Amino acid sequence: MASAESSNLSTAATSRLALITGGAGALGHAVAQRLAADGLRVVVADVGLQQAERIAAALPGSGHRGVAIDVTSEESIAAAFETIETQVGPIAVLATFAGVVGNAPDGAQPALVDTTLETWNRTLAVNVTGCFLCVREFARWRAKHPVPHGRVITVSSSAGQLGGYQSRSPYVTSKAAVLGLTKVVARELAAQGITVNAIAPGPVETPMTRSSRKSTDAQVSYDAMALMPLGRIGMPHEIAAAASYLASQDAAFVTGTTLDVNGGVRMQ
Ligand SMILES: NC(=O)c1ccc[n+]([C@@H]2O[C@H](COP(=O)([O-])OP(=O)(O)OC[C@H]3O[C@@H](n4cnc5c(N)ncnc54)[C@H](O)[C@@H]3O)[C@@H](O)[C@H]2O)c1
Repeated sequence: MASAESSNLSTAATSRLALITGGAGALGHAVAQRLAADGLRVVVADVGLQQAERIAAALPGSGHRGVAIDVTSEESIAAAFETIETQVGPIAVLATFAGVVGNAPDGAQPALVDTTLETWNRTLAVNVTGCFLCVREFARWRAKHPVPHGRVITVSSSAGQLGGYQSRSPYVTSKAAVLGLTKVVARELAAQGITVNAIAPGPVETPMTRSSRKSTDAQVSYDAMALMPLGRIGMPHEIAAAASYLASQDAAFVTGTTLDVNGGVRMQ
C-alpha cells in the first residue's frame, strides 16, 4: 500500500508543471532549481527571453521552458499562458517571484518625501498588479481545465509585515497588499482544490537586498542585522525549500497562510 501510494505520488510529481515569474531573478532561479530537482517541469518566465531560456536549459531533469513575460501587461501574460497551456501543458503550480524593490533611479531607497509617483506606481504595478494579473490568468485557465493539486505561491516580505528596516513605502505597501490578495484568492480558489499561500522572506543574500541597504561597506549584508535572532540573513535555497513544501502534495491542507522564512526577524 505504502509503495503503491508513493509510486502514484512520484508519477504525479514528475508530470506537474510549475510556472515561476521572475524565474531569472535570485530567488525565482533558486525556486526553479529546487522544483526541477523535486521532479516538476518548470517554466522560467522573466522579462528577458534569452536569460529565461538559458536558465531553463540548465535545470536538472527535462521538459523545462523559458518564456518572456511582463507581469505588468495583461496582453503579455495572456500570450505567455496561452503558449504554455497549449504547448507545454496545464500549469499546476504558479509561483509569483517577479518583483522590484522600488529604488529611485540613483539606486537609493527614497524617503517618503522623496518618493515620486513614478516609483510608487512602478513598484505597485510589478509587485501587486503583476501578482493579481498572473493569479487571475491562472484561475481562469484552471476553471476551464482543472488540474489536481493546484498551487499558487505568492511572495510577500517581512518588510510588508514589519514596516521595513531598509525598504520604503512603495515596497512595503506592495508586500502588505500581496498578503491581502493571497487570503482572498485562497478563499475563492478553495472550491477548486487550489491552495494559495504566501512566502514572506526576511532579508536574503541577493542583489536586491544589497541594492537597498544604506551601508556601502561590502561586509554589511543587512542594515538591521542586530534584529536577526539567528544572526545572519537567509540564502536563496532556504526560500526555495519553503516553495518546495507549499508546492508539494503534503501541503494540501495549508491555504491562505503566510510562511515566514526570516531568521526570526519577525515572530507572530
Ligand atoms: N531578496 C530578498 O531578500 C527578498 C526578501 C523578501 C522578499 N523578496 C521578494 O522576492 C521576490 C524575488 O526577489 P529577488 O531577490 O529574486 O529579486 P531579483 O531582482 O533578483 O528578481 C526579480 C525578478 O523579477 C523580474 N521582473 C521585474 N519586473 C518584471 C516584470 N514586469 N515582469 C516580469 N518579471 C519582472 C526581474 O527581471 C528579476 O529577474 C521579489 O518579489 C522580492 O520582493 C526578496
